[in-house]
Amino acid sequence: MKEVLITGCSSGIGLHCAMFLKEHNFRVFATARKNEDVLMLQEKGLEAFQLDLQNKDSIHNALNEVLKLTNGKLYALFNNGAYGQAGALEDISTEVLKKEFETNVFGWHELQNLVLPIMRKQGYGKIVQNSSVLGFVSLKYRGAYNASKYAIEGLSDTLRLELLGSNIFISLIEPGPIRSHFRKNAYKSFLDNVDYENSFHKDNYQNMIKRFERKGKDFFELKEIAVSKKVLKILNAKKPRARYYVTFPTYLFGFLKRILSTFWMDKILRFF
Ligand SMILES: NC(=O)c1ccc[n+]([C@@H]2O[C@H](COP(=O)([O-])OP(=O)(O)OC[C@H]3O[C@@H](n4cnc5c(N)ncnc54)[C@H](OP(=O)(O)O)[C@@H]3O)[C@@H](O)[C@H]2O)c1
Repeated sequence: MKEVLITGCSSGIGLHCAMFLKEHNFRVFATARKNEDVLMLQEKGLEAFQLDLQNKDSIHNALNEVLKLTNGKLYALFNNGAYGQAGALEDISTEVLKKEFETNVFGWHELQNLVLPIMRKQGYGKIVQNSSVLGFVSLKYRGAYNASKYAIEGLSDTLRLELLGSNIFISLIEPGPIRSHFRKNAYKSFLDNVDYENSFHKDNYQNMIKRFERKGKDFFELKEIAVSKKVLKILNAKKPRARYYVTFPTYLFGFLKRILSTFWMDKILRFF
């Protein structure tokens, strides 16, 4: 059985993907940062470990536990755990921006750098990065998250070149809206970290808060399975592609970005 380690499995895409890959005969190591979620994953029949992307020791410990069970082998890593820090950039402190990067970028880098020597030694491996449509187009009030996903795109593009000929592949998945706890978690980090009542953007924030609180599905939103299927496709591919789009908005913005100047892109993006 091929081994896959996944981060951020407490909810949404990570949780779905862990169950989905298990059903497809992968040996899944599901991780979550809270102990109660690790228990929940174990109750679902998964091999699960605590892994907090903001905590180096926890990353090292989780991987060591996995490697003990696999005789030091790992077929694939799915870097998935992340959150969205909403708010205008002028309302995001450097500390809050750093925190976003600790989880969404540096935690992924730390884990990847532990996994790469293992993959180099065994002579094969796959790294799958859960990026976003916001890894290549920018929207207002998503600057911190945008920056973290652009960083993932840049790091992954470089790593792909550095891995040429190694039989280790790195692929980016770029989803648009997917059903998950993402919006709920982004709302929480917004309330925790942005002084929205004293902001220049106060009025616009009211609309954003309404969107956060709105129940039901976003336009063009797909279920988690849309991403899990791409992960499976990558894991089964002999030579996976660099990028995999998911959802109509990603295809649309991917196309527009290729044909339009920044000036015309801004004319469109300002409405979102
Ligand atoms: N949903 C979308 O529309 C969408 C679109 C494009 C890309 N994505 C990407 O998809 C991935 C999964 O997000 P999702 O949509 O499934 O949202 P989600 O339901 O909020 O899941 C995010 C996961 O990341 C975990 N996480 C957050 N901080 C962490 C940390 N410090 N250490 C370890 N895990 C941490 C969360 O754990 P806790 O429960 O402990 O917070 C949760 O398990 C993310 O990389 C996100 O950027 C999502």
